[in-house]
Amino acid sequence: MNKCFFVFAGIIALTMVFLAGCGGDDGGGGEAAVSSEIVIGLSLPTQREERWVRDRDTMIAEAERQGIDLRVAVADADMAQQASQVENLLAQGVQVLILAPHDALAATSLVEEAAADGVPVISYDRLILSDMVDVYLSFDNERVGELQGEFITSLVPSGNYIVMSGAPTDNNAALFKRGAMKYIQPLADSGDINIVTERAVDNWLPENALNIVENALTANNNQVDAILAPNDGTAGGSIQALSAQGLAGEVPITGQDAELSGVRRIVEGTQSMTIFKDTRELGTAAIQAAITLAQGGSVDTNSVVEGVPSLLLTPHIITADNTDLLIDSGYLSHSQIYGD
Ligand code: BGC
Repeated sequence: MNKCFFVFAGIIALTMVFLAGCGGDDGGGGEAAVSSEIVIGLSLPTQREERWVRDRDTMIAEAERQGIDLRVAVADADMAQQASQVENLLAQGVQVLILAPHDALAATSLVEEAAADGVPVISYDRLILSDMVDVYLSFDNERVGELQGEFITSLVPSGNYIVMSGAPTDNNAALFKRGAMKYIQPLADSGDINIVTERAVDNWLPENALNIVENALTANNNQVDAILAPNDGTAGGSIQALSAQGLAGEVPITGQDAELSGVRRIVEGTQSMTIFKDTRELGTAAIQAAITLAQGGSVDTNSVVEGVPSLLLTPHIITADNTDLLIDSGYLSHSQIYGD
C-alpha cells in the first residue's frame, strides 16, 4: 500500500516537473517564462515626492518586462502602516523583499521577520540599519550632500546660512548633511559663515521647511544669504517663505531629486540647483537584483555601507546651464521644463 503510494506520488512529482519544464519553454522567450515563477515584494515609504512615483512605475514596468510577479505596497510615510504591509507581503509568500524604509531603525524588525521566513531583503534607496540586510541599492548619498555643499559655498562663501537636513528617521538625511557640511563647516569654523538656523525637517514635509525658513527670516530681519535645503520638496516650502518676504530669487538655495517643479524653479531663477538621481536606473537594478537573489545568485556591488554590500549609483548636479542632461536622458522633456 505504502509502496504504491510512493510510486504514485513519484509519478505525480515527475509529471509536475515535466509540466513546469514545458511551461519554461512556452512563450518563446525562455527568460520570461522561467521568471514567471518568481514573486517579489516591494514596499515603498511614500508617493509624496515625485521621485517615488517613478521608482514604483519603473519597477512595475521592469517586472512586467522580466515576467515576474511583483506585489507592490505603498505606505503614506507611516511606519506602522509600512510594517503591516510588509507582514502582508511576507504572508503572501514573496521570495525577495525590496524595502525602502520610512524609518531606518524601526524597519530592522521587518528585516528580521523576513530573515526568519528565509526571504532576502534589498534595502532600497534608504539604508535599513540592520546587519541582516542582504544588499543595499542606492546612490552615493554622501556625494549628493557634497555636491550641494560645494555648490552653495562657492556661490555664497560668507554670510548668514540656514542649514536644513531631511527627516531624522531617514539614514540618507544624515549622509546628505555629512557631505554638505564638509564644505560648510570649515567656513563656519573660520567665521565666514554664520549658521543662523540649523534644523532637521521632520518627515521631509515642505510645510515644515516653510516654517523653519519663515521663523529664521523673522529672527534675522530677513538677513539670510543662503539656504541648504536637502531636497526639492523642502526647497519648494522654503521658497514659499522667501516669496512671502519678496526674497524669492534673492537667496541661493539647494535642492535634490530633479522634480519637475524644482527644475522649473531653477529655470525661473528661484532655486539654484538640484541633484539628478536617475531613479529609473535604480528601479531597474532593484528588480534585476531581486531576480538574482530569488535564483540564489549574488548581486554585483561596488561598495560597502555600514557593513552591507552596496551598489551605489552616481548623482549629478543640475543648474540652469545643464538641464539638457535631463532632457537627453528622457527624464524630463524640453516642453515640460520650458513650456511650448
Ligand atoms: C531620498 C530623496 C527624497 C527624500 C524624501 C530620501 O531618502 O533619497 O530622494 O527626496 O527621501 O522622500
